Amino acid sequence: MILLVNKEHFFNENMLKDFEMIEYENYKEETKYIEKETFRHFEMLRAHLKIDNIIIDIDGAYRSLESQENLFLHFMKKYGLDYTEQIVAMPGTSEHHTGQAIDLSIKKDGIWIEENDDLMKEVEIWQRIHKSLKYFGFILRYPKNKEHITGYPYEPWHIRYIGEEAAMQIGDLTLEEYLSKIDNK
Ligand code: DAL
Ligand code: ZN
Repeated sequence: MILLVNKEHFFNENMLKDFEMIEYENYKEETKYIEKETFRHFEMLRAHLKIDNIIIDIDGAYRSLESQENLFLHFMKKYGLDYTEQIVAMPGTSEHHTGQAIDLSIKKDGIWIEENDDLMKEVEIWQRIHKSLKYFGFILRYPKNKEHITGYPYEPWHIRYIGEEAAMQIGDLTLEEYLSKIDNK
């Protein structure tokens, strides 16, 4: 079963009963939590991209309700409520609560890029990463020009594990469109 969490479909803890969360220490030596299968597939994606000299790591994965709230408040202080609401999910509506979404950082010329504005500039690297996602069960969750369906503008760094079969089938559909098509139970 593919979990759907968005502005209309709220997260509840029961959703995680069949999933296992594991710990991971990222390039900043920060401990991150992530769903086990998502991590296993991330490691394969990372190894695959490394062959082409593309270096990725996990900036964020699982977020508790509390950590999403802190993130929301942090953005709100910096940018105000209107802009924050457009780009950060309200606690309980973020798919980061599932542990199956990853925000990627990329390393270029020896430097880790992690700020959204800087990441957005790396168009070619993202093209290369996005092309590989489906083979490892991931999708680009918030593609360009789909804001009216997903609820969020383009986020090249936010990928979501949905399994190889679905990722290979989904094509240009958003997760919302794909799940309504297959009648996900
Ligand atoms: N930035 C994504 C939408 C989140 O906060 O979950
Ligand atoms: Zn994200």
